Amino acid sequence: MGIESDFRGRQGVDKFLARKRKKYDKLDEKAKQDFDQEALVNPYLDSRILHIADDKEISKVLVGIDIGPAEILMAKELGGVDLIISHHPLGKGLANLADVMALQADVLNQYGVPINIAEGLLKERISEVARGVNAKNHQRTVDAARLLGVNLICIHTPCDNLAAKFLKDKIENNQQIEIVGELMEELKQIPEYKEAIKIGAGPKIFAGDEENRTGRIAVTEMTGGTEGSPKLYKKMATAGIGTILAMHQSEEHRKEADEAKLNVVVAGHISSDNIGLNLFLDKLTAQGIEIIPCSGLVRVSRS
Ligand SMILES: [Fe+2]
Repeated sequence: MGIESDFRGRQGVDKFLARKRKKYDKLDEKAKQDFDQEALVNPYLDSRILHIADDKEISKVLVGIDIGPAEILMAKELGGVDLIISHHPLGKGLANLADVMALQADVLNQYGVPINIAEGLLKERISEVARGVNAKNHQRTVDAARLLGVNLICIHTPCDNLAAKFLKDKIENNQQIEIVGELMEELKQIPEYKEAIKIGAGPKIFAGDEENRTGRIAVTEMTGGTEGSPKLYKKMATAGIGTILAMHQSEEHRKEADEAKLNVVVAGHISSDNIGLNLFLDKLTAQGIEIIPCSGLVRVSRS
């Protein structure tokens, strides 16, 4: 499902994996031993199996946006949970978060930013993110799962791809949306954002004004690991983008986007994560799997 909704298309994803294979083939035997074999088949290294306590049929799943040792204990307390799914990456998935960011260059290129500029600016940012996650205690929650005998996986970018595709289809070619306020109205019709509004976390305009014309709307900040480079905004504006629909945005990025005269609509972090997870979980529900939402997940069923 992650590949099917990937903006690069299956062909683009295959090329990404083929480049990894080529790199791997060139390594000497010693380097091959250290190479993460999963990288040859899984284009989303922030999404993986983290701990298998019991390789059994799964009928009940505890699912949350962030899973920590508390949720592992919660699963034990609730009882009968066969698997925990975390949206945000943990363990090896977290250590490899920066690897999925390459997709952002392809997406920006589709919106008209020359690939050399997109890749060049993202390269700096990817190494910055890689250094940032380097300091984390990656295994903390995985260790809790191991000690308590709980199955644990994380699914990040495939779900974010689902959310991005869902929003792109709804918004980008919608002739009814001419001004930022109309984009906001459209977002507010989506159940996950309706829920977010109730708790004060609804869509917000971070840059621009609700009366501004949107120009070309780009869904460039919904997937691809985490935020790209703030230096990209001027290039995006030059490429003809008028409004960015983002999941979340830091102050540094917001200032750059504002300076480039881009409108920025932040749909909401956890609520957008909810869209992607819900689209995925519909498939599990269809197979008769029971879902227990926790840690920021509000289940919305579309089937
Ligand atoms: Fe997220």
